Amino acid sequence: MRDASPQSAAETVHLKDYAPFGYLIDKVELVFRLDPEATRVTSRIAFRPDPAAKSRDFFLHGEKLKLIGARIDGQKAAPEMVKGGLRCTVPDAPFLWEAEVEIAPAQNTALDGLYMSNGMYCTQCEAEGFRKITYYPDRPDVMAPFSVRIEGTQPVLLSNGNPGRKGEGFAEWHDPWKKPAYLFALVAGDLVCHSDSFTTRSGRRVALGIWVRAGDLEKCGFAMDALKRAMAWDERVYGREYDLDVFNIVAVDDFNMGAMENKGLNIFNSSAVLASPETATDANYERIESIIAHEYFHNWTGNRITCRDWFQLCLKEGLTVFRDQQFSADERSAPVQRINDVLALRGRQFREDNGPLAHPVRPESFVEINNFYTATVYEKGAELIGMLRRLVGEDGYARALDLYFRRHDGQACTIEDWLKVFEDACDRDLGQFKLWYAQAGTPRLGVEEAWDGSTFTLTLTQKTPPTPGQAQKAPLVIPVATGLLAPDGSELVPTRILEMTEARQSFRFADLPVRPVASVLRGFSAPVILERRADPRQLRLLLAHDTDPFNRWEAGRLLARNSLLAMLRDGADPDAGYFAALNDLAGELELDPAFRALCLALPGQDDIAQALHDGGTVPDPVAIYRARRSFAEAMARALQPRLAALYEYSRPEGPYSPDAGAAGRRALAGAALGLLTLVDGGGRARRQYAAADNMTEQLGALSALVSIGEAEEELAQFYAQWKDDRLVLDKWFGLQVGLAGPETAVATARTLSEHPDFSWKTPNRFRAVIGGFAANPAGFHDPSGAGYGLVADWLIRLDPVNPQTTARMSTAFETWRRYDADRRAQMREALERMLATKGLSRDTTEMITRMLG
Ligand code: PHE
Ligand code: ZN
Repeated sequence: MRDASPQSAAETVHLKDYAPFGYLIDKVELVFRLDPEATRVTSRIAFRPDPAAKSRDFFLHGEKLKLIGARIDGQKAAPEMVKGGLRCTVPDAPFLWEAEVEIAPAQNTALDGLYMSNGMYCTQCEAEGFRKITYYPDRPDVMAPFSVRIEGTQPVLLSNGNPGRKGEGFAEWHDPWKKPAYLFALVAGDLVCHSDSFTTRSGRRVALGIWVRAGDLEKCGFAMDALKRAMAWDERVYGREYDLDVFNIVAVDDFNMGAMENKGLNIFNSSAVLASPETATDANYERIESIIAHEYFHNWTGNRITCRDWFQLCLKEGLTVFRDQQFSADERSAPVQRINDVLALRGRQFREDNGPLAHPVRPESFVEINNFYTATVYEKGAELIGMLRRLVGEDGYARALDLYFRRHDGQACTIEDWLKVFEDACDRDLGQFKLWYAQAGTPRLGVEEAWDGSTFTLTLTQKTPPTPGQAQKAPLVIPVATGLLAPDGSELVPTRILEMTEARQSFRFADLPVRPVASVLRGFSAPVILERRADPRQLRLLLAHDTDPFNRWEAGRLLARNSLLAMLRDGADPDAGYFAALNDLAGELELDPAFRALCLALPGQDDIAQALHDGGTVPDPVAIYRARRSFAEAMARALQPRLAALYEYSRPEGPYSPDAGAAGRRALAGAALGLLTLVDGGGRARRQYAAADNMTEQLGALSALVSIGEAEEELAQFYAQWKDDRLVLDKWFGLQVGLAGPETAVATARTLSEHPDFSWKTPNRFRAVIGGFAANPAGFHDPSGAGYGLVADWLIRLDPVNPQTTARMSTAFETWRRYDADRRAQMREALERMLATKGLSRDTTEMITRMLG
């Protein structure tokens, strides 16, 4: 384990080497004397030997710290400085460790540890940032209560827990709940507060605060509302109450991720908090609601019960994503939420799981843990919880969760602990289910049908392709929710869960009056790829009549996808039968507009590339762009009257409200506008742009115009209007690089990366421009290779400044093996050039090595 022998920088850490720390901590006291170049941190930590542990290796992590002095029980200590920290001889009895270190937050561009953003001090400690603040056993299984004193001239001084004494130039905080160091947080700055309160079920009055820069005070209302709804929901649905007197959220502009669940002091990327109708889109509101809920839910799933080690990351993340998805489903529309979650899963996790970066939901080794905050750990991790719930039923799930909270409160746990509560509460062996945590790769589920005049037999097969380091795969338990429709569209057999445990298995439905149409994998009941030769007539029937909204949508998606694949492979025309069926569905007034909007959306370019590759065809991104565009144009022409009516009548009336109903109507009108603009010359979009009083409609119109290359004036107007709003300006950048067609994309990205407002050290801006471009397949995969070169150049530049964001964005190249020989060679060359960069970070080195692997 790295803790025991931290010699080489790029050492691999293995789950099997886990060993507990030798000491327990009764109390941590920290004092911060803030200074941009020389912050002093003193720590007083009460250690005691852990009777349960074998090791007595007193190793404290520490990185980039200047040790001023250390004492043990008041006596000067002489620690041995070793790579990654220090070692010290300590008494074989309880003792007090005191240390003083100096750090330079203003020099910290990696945004990990204590750093500065717009003159404000803030911290990010997950996963291993606390070791950049002071010497400490920086591992999640070491939990302790923290007291913090901050000395600084800033008007606002915040840390975890409940507020203590406060005076001129200082503030004290006490967190009574023991926690691992990764949940530590400190904020100091000139901030203003949007305050409110929440009274818990048992009567605790909690002061809620959202802390932002002065100009942003008006943009906190929605996040606050979402927070209160999340608090009430967790009481109602999981019986979980909040446990401190205050709950604070701080918005920062410079942040590597979305947000962080520090105990009582969540720190958020400002893009995940701030919203006003004029500056935020419906999608932004939705994201804010879900991230606010996610971080709040971590208070129980993550903080009160945390992870034993970082291999167990999915214990808190998979569960918390699952919980935030449930919350959004309850607060909004469950089918729409499910479809969006599956779209995200397929777009990011399937891509990862079917490429060189594939890894199990619970990885077994890593070099840099920050590289494992992945779609697999988060989104596939959440799918595993959903499958468990399907397998044990709602009641079983509720019993298991109650037991989990009762049994493990205050502990640092493993996936074994998690599965054991299900086994105990539901009296069920989960040995085979556990494979889902260990086996990487997306299973392919095959479906064969047989009919003998009264019995319908579904034969399911499963096969998981090999992934790096895992050549052989065993069969998994797969819950396949299935229903049967009669040929007239009525439901013949309602949904039942077919529990698949073998590689090949048959399920019989007897005594049926007619040969049914099977609706398989309803609600996307397992994270698998369904391989089924789809008969278009059956798909059209499902699209028109399936009682399962997910599969209704899925049927349409398959029709669209199959038509696009046929266009690309055989030069076929777009599927007119699909357009006719879609036209009917789009006009079903009783159907949720948000759902209809999703049905009108086309498969993304990368989805199509993935599907082609899966079917053994080498994808050509430029051809995909063109086929998709002509498919969309044909669709717009085929549905024109319907779309025109939807555009006219769907938009909600009255002042903007971000609620799901109004957002769904705007989404439907927006989908119609996007399609119509391809065939109407842009008149509607131009008028909408000029009249828009909210960002959803302003940006929707602008996107439509950019897509047809007729937005020059509007782009200039937009810039002039919003150049001082950093979050809106990110949209302006992102939209241009993301929507540009193959002829202009590289040039657009180049021009915009030279724009004076391209402040590339801010992760949000870097992601908007470079990430936005890399996510535009028609530009990134430009046949000249210039797209790859541009992204590689920028990653090389960002790496020394911010390794975490660089490593994360290097995944733009993860699909390199999919493409033709020229592109493959160019992408490989870009990867090798990055890898050859002198001093490349451990983060990026690990990612590129795995991609080339
Ligand atoms: N734990 C955070 C979340 O899931 C994500 C995060 C990880 C943020 C690492 C910062 C650093 O919400
Ligand atoms: Zn999380």
